[in-house]
Amino acid sequence: MRMLWGGASASSQYEGGFTLFDKGMDTQDCRRYIKRTDNATTSTRLLTKADIERAKNPKDGDFFPGRRGSEGLAHIDEDIEYLSELGIDIYRISIAWSRIFPTGEEEEPNEDALNMYGDILKKLKEKGIKIYLSLTHYALPLALVEKYGGWKNRKLVDLYLKYAKVIFERFGKYLDYVVPFNEINTGFFSPFNGLGLLRDENKEGSGYDLNDIFAGLHNQFIASTKVIELGRKMLDASFGCMAACFCYYGYSCNPFDQLKTLQYEQVNQWFFTDVLAGGEYPYYMKKYFRDNNVKVEFLPGDEELLRNNTADFVGFSYYQSNVCASKEMEKTAGNLVVSTKNPYLKANEWGWQIDPVGIRISMNKIYDRYKKPVMITENSFGYNDVLLEGNIINDDYRIEYLKDHFEQIKLAIDDGVECLAYLLWGIIDIVSAGSLEMSKRYGVVYVDADNLGNGSYKRYKKKSFEFYKDYIEKERESV
Ligand code: BG6
Repeated sequence: MRMLWGGASASSQYEGGFTLFDKGMDTQDCRRYIKRTDNATTSTRLLTKADIERAKNPKDGDFFPGRRGSEGLAHIDEDIEYLSELGIDIYRISIAWSRIFPTGEEEEPNEDALNMYGDILKKLKEKGIKIYLSLTHYALPLALVEKYGGWKNRKLVDLYLKYAKVIFERFGKYLDYVVPFNEINTGFFSPFNGLGLLRDENKEGSGYDLNDIFAGLHNQFIASTKVIELGRKMLDASFGCMAACFCYYGYSCNPFDQLKTLQYEQVNQWFFTDVLAGGEYPYYMKKYFRDNNVKVEFLPGDEELLRNNTADFVGFSYYQSNVCASKEMEKTAGNLVVSTKNPYLKANEWGWQIDPVGIRISMNKIYDRYKKPVMITENSFGYNDVLLEGNIINDDYRIEYLKDHFEQIKLAIDDGVECLAYLLWGIIDIVSAGSLEMSKRYGVVYVDADNLGNGSYKRYKKKSFEFYKDYIEKERESV
C-alpha cells in the first residue's frame, strides 16, 4: 500500500468551545499562559493544587489557552474544506474525554458531544479522508485528578475502557487507525500533562514521587492493551502505540558518551515502545527500578495482557534530534527533554535542533527494533510566522524543513522501512502544548490569533499550503 500523507491535531490545542454542551473541565483547561522568559527552555509547568484552584477561580487577566485552542469547533466546516483542498489522505484527531463523560464517571455519555464528533468524523470521511483517532491527547477530566489523583490510580483503567467502548460503539465505522495515548512517554517527563499528577510543593526535587509516575505509566500500559483487546473485537481498524522520539546521538566516540546515550534512549523512549510493541517490560528497567527504588505493582493477568495485545504499528513524533554527553556541556531545549547542543545543527527559536537525517535514522531504528510498520504521527517546523499585508504568510523556512524531512523519509523507505503515513502536526495552526503560545506555529493554514487570545481567528493559507498540496498530488500520481 502507498504511504499516506496527512495532518494532525489535538482536542485541547485546537477545539475551543470550553463549555460547549456542558463539557467537563479537563487538565488542559487548567494551564494558564505565562509569558516565556527563557528562549532556551520550554515553559511546560507542573501544576500544583493551588494552580487548579486558580483555574477554577481565575483572576482578572488570566488566560487559559487550552480553553480557546484555535477556535476549531467554531470553524470546523471551513477547516475540513482546507484539509480536503490539500488532498490529505488521513487526519489525526483526538476526542476530549471530558466532553463525553464530563467527570469521567457519569453513567451515560453526553449525547450532544457524541453527535458533534460523529458529525465531524462523518464529514472527514465524506471527503475521502481516513481517520487516525487518538483516544486521548493529554486532556484528562479534572474530576479524576481531584478524586483519584490521576493515572496513578488503577481505577482510571476501567473508566477509560468504558469511555473507549462508547467511542468504538458510536464511531467504529469511521476509524482506520486507533492509538490509545498520545506520546505514552510524556508522563515520565511531564507528569501533569501525561498522567494528571499534581506537583507537591513540599516535596524536594521535582515535587513528584517516582513510584507515582511509574504506577501511572503502568496503568496507561494496561489501559492501552485493554483498549486494543476490546477494539480488536469491535472494529476493523489498525491499533498502534505512539511515543515521542528523541533520536539521541552520543556527543563523541568516548565510550562514556555512548553508554550514557544508550541508557537515556532506553529509559526515555525504548522502554515505552518495548512494552507496547514488544509486549513486556524490558530487562534494563530492572536495574533502573532497583537504582531508583521503584516498585511497579503487577496485578495477576497484567503480563498476559501486555504480551497478547501488542501494537500493530509504532507511531512516533519527531521534531529534533538530541545529544548526550557524559560531562556537563552547553544545553538546548527540545520536545519534552533537554539536549546537549549539537555543533552541526541549527535550531529554531525555541532551541529545537533541526535534523532531517535524524528522521531517517529514527525510522530505521524503530523498524529494526520491532519489525512493525512505523508511522510519523507528528512532525513540522515550529515558527513564529508573520501575517503580512494582503494576508500573506511567506513560510519558506517551513517549506525547506518539510522538503528536507520528506526527502529523508523517502530514503528511509528506500532503506527498506515500512512506513504507513506522515502526519503534519498542527496542520491548521494550534496552541503549543509545551509553551501554550499561539506564536509557535506548525501548520500550513495560519490562524489569526496571538498568545493572549486576541485576534479574529480567521484562517489564511500559508505559502507552505501550496507546497504540501502539490507534494501530495505528485505522490498520488507517482503510484
Ligand atoms: C508533542 C505533542 O509533544 O509535541 C503535541 O504531542 C505538541 O501536543 C507537539 O504540540 C509540539 O510541541 P509544542 O510544545 O511545540 O506544542
